[in-house]
Amino acid sequence: QPIYLADYTPPAFWVDRVELTFRLHPTATRVLSRVAFRPNPDAPGPFTLHGQDLTLIRATIDGNEVTPTLTDDGLTCPAPDAPFVWEAEVEINPEANKALEGLYMSNGMYCTQCEAEGFRKITYYPDRPDVMAPFIVRIESDLPVLLSNGNPAAAGEGWAEWDDPWPKPAYLFALVAGDLHAHRDSFTTASGKPVDLAIWVRDGDQDKCAFGMAALKASMAWDERVYGREYDLDVFNIVAVDDFNAGAMENKGLNVFNSAAVLASPETATDANFERIESIIAHEYFHNWTGNRITCRDWFQLCLKEGLTVYRDQQFTKDVRSEPVKRIDDVLMLRGAQFREDGGPLAHPVRPESFVEINNFYTATVYDKGAEVIGMLHRLVGDATYARALDLYFDRHDGQACTIEDWLKVFEDVSGRDLTQFKLWYSIAGTPHVKVTDTWADGSYTLTFQQSVPDTPGQTDKPPMVIPIAVGLLDTDGTEVVPTRVLELTEARQNFAFDGLATRPVPSILRGFSAPVILEQTVPAEHKRLLLAHDTDPFNRWEAGRALARQALLAMLTDRAAPDPAYLEALQALLADDSLDPAFRALVLRLPSQQDLTQALFDAGQVPDPLAIHDALTAMETAMATHLQADLTASFDAHQVPGPYRPVAADAGKRALANGALALLTRTDAGARAKVQYSDAANMTQQMAALSALQRIGAASDALEHFHSQWQHERLVLDKWFGLQSSLSLPAEAVATVRRLTEHPDFTWENPNRFRAVFGGFSSNLAGFHDPSGDGYALMADWLIRLDRLNPMTTARMTTAFGTWKQYDADRQALMRDALERIALVPVLSRDTKEMVTRILAG
Ligand code: ARG
Ligand code: ZN
Repeated sequence: QPIYLADYTPPAFWVDRVELTFRLHPTATRVLSRVAFRPNPDAPGPFTLHGQDLTLIRATIDGNEVTPTLTDDGLTCPAPDAPFVWEAEVEINPEANKALEGLYMSNGMYCTQCEAEGFRKITYYPDRPDVMAPFIVRIESDLPVLLSNGNPAAAGEGWAEWDDPWPKPAYLFALVAGDLHAHRDSFTTASGKPVDLAIWVRDGDQDKCAFGMAALKASMAWDERVYGREYDLDVFNIVAVDDFNAGAMENKGLNVFNSAAVLASPETATDANFERIESIIAHEYFHNWTGNRITCRDWFQLCLKEGLTVYRDQQFTKDVRSEPVKRIDDVLMLRGAQFREDGGPLAHPVRPESFVEINNFYTATVYDKGAEVIGMLHRLVGDATYARALDLYFDRHDGQACTIEDWLKVFEDVSGRDLTQFKLWYSIAGTPHVKVTDTWADGSYTLTFQQSVPDTPGQTDKPPMVIPIAVGLLDTDGTEVVPTRVLELTEARQNFAFDGLATRPVPSILRGFSAPVILEQTVPAEHKRLLLAHDTDPFNRWEAGRALARQALLAMLTDRAAPDPAYLEALQALLADDSLDPAFRALVLRLPSQQDLTQALFDAGQVPDPLAIHDALTAMETAMATHLQADLTASFDAHQVPGPYRPVAADAGKRALANGALALLTRTDAGARAKVQYSDAANMTQQMAALSALQRIGAASDALEHFHSQWQHERLVLDKWFGLQSSLSLPAEAVATVRRLTEHPDFTWENPNRFRAVFGGFSSNLAGFHDPSGDGYALMADWLIRLDRLNPMTTARMTTAFGTWKQYDADRQALMRDALERIALVPVLSRDTKEMVTRILAG
């Protein structure tokens, strides 16, 4: 029962106005709706409404009782061929809603999650993003705080009314009610309009809001300064909720956040948590224009709002932190999640052409590759044209539900370019491979590029794409002789010549990771070392170090080579270079992940052995600790940050470098330094870094016990305790550890954060998860089957742990297939999980 982009038809009825009344009750909430409909002359059709798990109490059209026909996914009813008012009363049971979609309860608080199709679990409605309307909402409840979208309109004892004047699709509806406490502030927009800001939390969390609030104000100012976008309501509310399937949700004027994505204090959150919170706050805020004011015509266009909003939040983080460091972090994420997705059974285009369950397409491809595509467009047209295109986009499409065609047309109109070929990025799945070779003759240097896109499920024989490749040239002393130039690759094979050079240059290709492609080039090790030492492009500098590390590790894995001394020497020079940002040095010090090496071996036609990969990484770290001991110790000492904790990039960078050194030094000092740091730690960054270092050498048991008793009442910190053990347990102990964690009294498996801490952590622990016994697969399958009955969305997402099954040896493949088939055969499996497992098995 897939649905297809090609089958889109406009709605048969438009909505002019929505009034909702909620009489809240934990098990029997009544929802009264009054909706003004108007037939769409361009698409006449029957009057149908979506609805799911609703008990219809009564319905009227223009005041006359009607008896609709209930269907599988809603109802249909005879309706006038002229504007009319539909009224309905339904009953729903928020307490029984453990799928966390629609209206549900979390620790005594009511909250909603409607994107993508959760509003239909609240009342009968045309639950599709192209139907936009202003909403008026009345909430009746004894709870002290009653919130919905828009501006507060009126309130009294036991009720409150909200008025959202901006037409919006139902997926942006939100309601929150509970005993909540506000952290308040205010913001004055560029045109002088005051906005009341609040972050609403449960009692006890008031001290974890200040950072989120500062991030919100910074985001508001940034969107005014950089995109000319002002906020458009009198209030902006954020609510923290403990039970939430995603990170956060951009409901108009009432963003709902997973508490892990907003609450932070120096004692309970790490530097990485702070940075992530800042970027998610920005992301949700930026959706106000890219998502809410301009929304998606249908869910196939999801990347229209998500790709653009991710791109915007990445720009924001580059501005407020470090551009090169953020770029490297984003590429690490992209390669770790999106390239993996694109290279396996779950590969799909940035704009999918069909789906069974849209919740399964909130993916790295839609979000992160979607953002890369916008980055390429920006690079191709330049800053000024990009800015004009965005202005035109906001002007032309404000208040509309749009498509990728609308988006690209804006760029075509402003730039005069034909984007037909560029548009392939939205429809072709798979990561392009770009092979580069070079020649040198008579002072002329030529780069030859060949591109190809691998087959993916349902797609073969792909045409060439438009690939912007930023290139610079260095001479063999490391001086840049040709600064960055963007080459536009449009053909399957293409040459680019550079003339007037005195000597054969060393190329620096794909600077800044200018396109989401896999670059294939044979670079002599001495050129990599030269680029690591001298490239003016920080991304490629890091990339050269990464390539050296990967090469050294692959040699250890395939030729039983010793850790490459030349690599260690190159690192040594870099480590000591105080002109380099510590955050950048910390990134250079980080080895490729188990996942990276698995992929690299697979790409080289070999069968990856998770245990061997784990052991090679351990051996390399031990070699680093031994050979660089003095340098690492110096780095560790020099980058301690005295004084009170501040979550700023400069301090975080120093801590990252010191803690990177600590993790390595722990390989050879039996945990001596880490134990001291653990006991002295005055903030969570230091405490977690020490605990992780100990866990990685299997010496954390005392510290873990201490950590649990110290933090047993802080659920977000307990998630760390669970996640650290499942992700970093040594291979031989991992399965038993995870099983033990699931038996722990604090393992509340209905809570997505806790479930993900344990099983997301476990699936990242490749050597543990892929234990040759298959016990890891079986344990994962058991729990996914169990969770699916409650929470399909989170279950379906976690099935991706099995997404790389075809990369492994025959025995593991068979065991993973058994686990997947066992899930597939569950008699009442959710549509979400069924679709995922079917795709994974078919790939
Ligand atoms: N729109 C939200 C965001 O990107 C995420 C919603 C996730 N919803 C889902 N069904 N997976 O900020
Ligand atoms: Zn988003």
